Amino acid sequence: MTKLWGGRFSGEKMDPKVLDFTSSLCVDKELAEYDCLSNKVQVEMLAKCGFISSAEEKKFLKVLNELLVEIQENRLKLVECEDIHSLIQDYVEERLPLLAAKLHTGRSRNEQVVNDVRLYCKDKITSIISLIAALQKKLVLKAETMTDVIVPGYTHLNRAQPVLFSHLLMGYIEMLERDAGRLKDAFARLDVSVMGSGALAGSALELDRKFIAKKMGFKKISANSIDAVSDRDFILEFVSGLCLVAVHLSRMSEDFILYTTAEFGFLEIDPVYCTGSSLMPQKQNPDVLELIRGKSSLVIGALNSLFVLLKGLPHSYNRDLQEDKKPLFESVNTVMAELEIFSGVVDSIQ
Ligand code: ARG
Repeated sequence: MTKLWGGRFSGEKMDPKVLDFTSSLCVDKELAEYDCLSNKVQVEMLAKCGFISSAEEKKFLKVLNELLVEIQENRLKLVECEDIHSLIQDYVEERLPLLAAKLHTGRSRNEQVVNDVRLYCKDKITSIISLIAALQKKLVLKAETMTDVIVPGYTHLNRAQPVLFSHLLMGYIEMLERDAGRLKDAFARLDVSVMGSGALAGSALELDRKFIAKKMGFKKISANSIDAVSDRDFILEFVSGLCLVAVHLSRMSEDFILYTTAEFGFLEIDPVYCTGSSLMPQKQNPDVLELIRGKSSLVIGALNSLFVLLKGLPHSYNRDLQEDKKPLFESVNTVMAELEIFSGVVDSIQ
């Protein structure tokens, strides 16, 4: 397949080792659906602004709709490619060889990648906020069943005053409420369309930026193209919100780990969240809670990676920015899994 940027090169093949080193497909394949939906909007905008005919628009949309189904049914073939944006461009080129190049009219991958990641973040923040709400509900329901359970309340990990166990559980709800609030704030700030920024300097073509933003569901459009293609603040904000969720879940897990030990001995969790030992059959190890505690380090590490990635990076787009996705996706997947599994643990406590 011809490279999107292949025009100035004389057709020599990319060294497979270089392709392997520079390709981000194994990571950014997660953006496939967002990229496909964005391509559909791009096609509609190009037709609206007269860059393609309505017959061409129809041809593009047919192929992109087929692609969308393949993505949703997990059937998209991941052939060797630089990234998901190139893969999708190649997919269209294979089916519409004479037309495909028009798809990228007035557009750069530098803005495309930011656009897709913003759509991804909006989607995931919405899901994570629902998972937080579901966990809060589980905590309230559990607290309601425990309004007569008195346990030691600790300061300095020394017995301090007797408290209701429900008092502690309701405290967790407050922590999670603040987490949801931070994620909502991050959502509001990242709800911006950057399309039209081009590689860094906008486009000489009369593209309809407002149309794209509206169709993709963005509240605003970005004001400065140089900033728009190099800004990753929104990822850092989102991941720092996730760090706090992970840290909170880690602290709650630590409480439960302590309280289920023989030394404390006033809490039980369902054995499905534990493992045993063949050598020491008396043991019930709270592995799931330990892993929630342990995996928070991954999310904190991801935030640190992102800060280091941005620090010292000149404007505007640099390929370094490709490395933003792995820490983002890993943090999102980790926190989502933790929220779901911790909800189950809460359900099971006695
Ligand atoms: N895969 C790239 C990334 O994630 C897309 C942008 C490529 N742009 C470029 N000028 N090479 O950042």
